[in-house]
Amino acid sequence: MGKSITGAPTPADLTISPRDRRFGRDDGPTRLWHGGGHAATAIYNALSATFPTGEAFFVDSVRAFREGAPPRLAEEIKAFTTQEVIHSREHLAFNRRAADAGYDLTKLQARVDERLAVTKSKPPIVSLAATMALEHFTAILAHQLLVNPRHLAAGEAETAALWRWHAYEEIEHKGVAYDTWLHATRDWPRFKRWKVKAKVMMFITRNFVVDRTAGALELMRQDGVTGLRAWASLLWYLWIRPGMFRKIAGAWASFFLPRFHPWNHDDRFLLKAYDANTAEAPVPVKKVRRAA
Ligand SMILES: [Fe+2]
Ligand SMILES: [Fe+2]
Repeated sequence: MGKSITGAPTPADLTISPRDRRFGRDDGPTRLWHGGGHAATAIYNALSATFPTGEAFFVDSVRAFREGAPPRLAEEIKAFTTQEVIHSREHLAFNRRAADAGYDLTKLQARVDERLAVTKSKPPIVSLAATMALEHFTAILAHQLLVNPRHLAAGEAETAALWRWHAYEEIEHKGVAYDTWLHATRDWPRFKRWKVKAKVMMFITRNFVVDRTAGALELMRQDGVTGLRAWASLLWYLWIRPGMFRKIAGAWASFFLPRFHPWNHDDRFLLKAYDANTAEAPVPVKKVRRAA
């Protein structure tokens, strides 16, 4: 582990390499792509519904602080931007296929717009703090997705590949928003930094769990699954088996430790395992930026 200028333990030899991939362009719309499961399909679709707008917000929030960033961090912000732009593009394409299959995602997207409007009405540092917290969320979800094949085992191959690719890049760039936050708040007293960070994380977590649960229930309703049956199967799926939310709880709590940094947990072994199993090589950033 090397120390960057901001004092963060982002590995010195980490390179963020956007992979400009396209998924499912030739596939017809599929309704219950996740092994026919209502809860499973609904929660992934609910997440995907939020990504195009959410990731554009992450990019804007981080880029607002790139001025004066140390050269390495500035480079990382560029690569992060490219990755998130391509993620947005692929999830937009996926969301179109979901809409073609008959799902109405507009309610879910309106909720994201409302939440973001509140955040954007505050000073830019609040948007950066929200991004930093949400990026921790996506990184621990991504870790869990890659470390435990059960999560996507029943999914259609191409859609599962989209999620794995996205998870890979979320792990790869998991330190960028955090390092940008460390740089932006470098003059703050440590306790103030921790207090703001902890408050934002609590707020983000509440909204994330409530909104994604509501979103998934709405999509299940569109499949004709309602009431207790919908609640029970969704809660079972999220908290018991495979229990994604339960499994990320420990990693989520680590965020509140005084010396937390996303790279305190070096999980690049997951990236190596992914590389060993896919033939896709990273493409140079410049080329991707033109394509995005
Ligand atoms: Fe992303
Ligand atoms: Fe991200």
